[in-house]
Amino acid sequence: MNRRRVAVLISGRGSNMGALIEAARDPSYPAEIALVLSNKAEVGGLATAKSAGIATAFVDHKMFAGREEFERSMERLLEIHRIEFVCLAGFMRILSPWFIRQWQDRMVNIHPSLLPSYRGLDTHARALADGVKIHGCTVHFVVPELDAGPIIAQAAVRVHDDDSEATLAARVLAEEHRIYPEALALLAADRLSIRGNRVVTLPARPGVS
Ligand code: GRF
Repeated sequence: MNRRRVAVLISGRGSNMGALIEAARDPSYPAEIALVLSNKAEVGGLATAKSAGIATAFVDHKMFAGREEFERSMERLLEIHRIEFVCLAGFMRILSPWFIRQWQDRMVNIHPSLLPSYRGLDTHARALADGVKIHGCTVHFVVPELDAGPIIAQAAVRVHDDDSEATLAARVLAEEHRIYPEALALLAADRLSIRGNRVVTLPARPGVS
């Protein structure tokens, strides 16, 4: 099977990246994690990726004159590693419309809320403050608008009466680790069709997972 080459972009602990690496250990998984790229030095995620034997790169956004120069440098690395799909996993830089266009329909993100609710930061605290009973996470294609884009997968969790931000975040994170590898598997197997704002899952072809 021709496994698709994926880069994961991170800025921190990289637990979602870890879940993708774990899933890709299975030889029948349709993607391999070929590169982990961080804009922060010495983050936990880089250590995890290195110990899994995965190529890593650190591109310091502060070294560059501007966003475009930073992104061109990332783009070059993605080319060198012959990357076909990009997964954002806690990557804390806003990406320019230019970069997003390069990766149109080939770049996905995980967000810790049921989009379109709670775009942006502090999603768990805001969900608790609003008193919602259901919260969750979303995997979506990346478009220039922040935390928007066609939705591939979502998982909901109940909000408990005694939840703190930390307990709610942990329950959502467990679902993130489940749905992100599932969503990437569908993407890498060419089983996602974008129709306007909707993503339709196509049936598996016989003999292909
Ligand atoms: C996750 O909650 C993800 O949804 C959000 O940033 C967090 C990253 O966590 N985009 P990790 O680095 O994957 O552990």
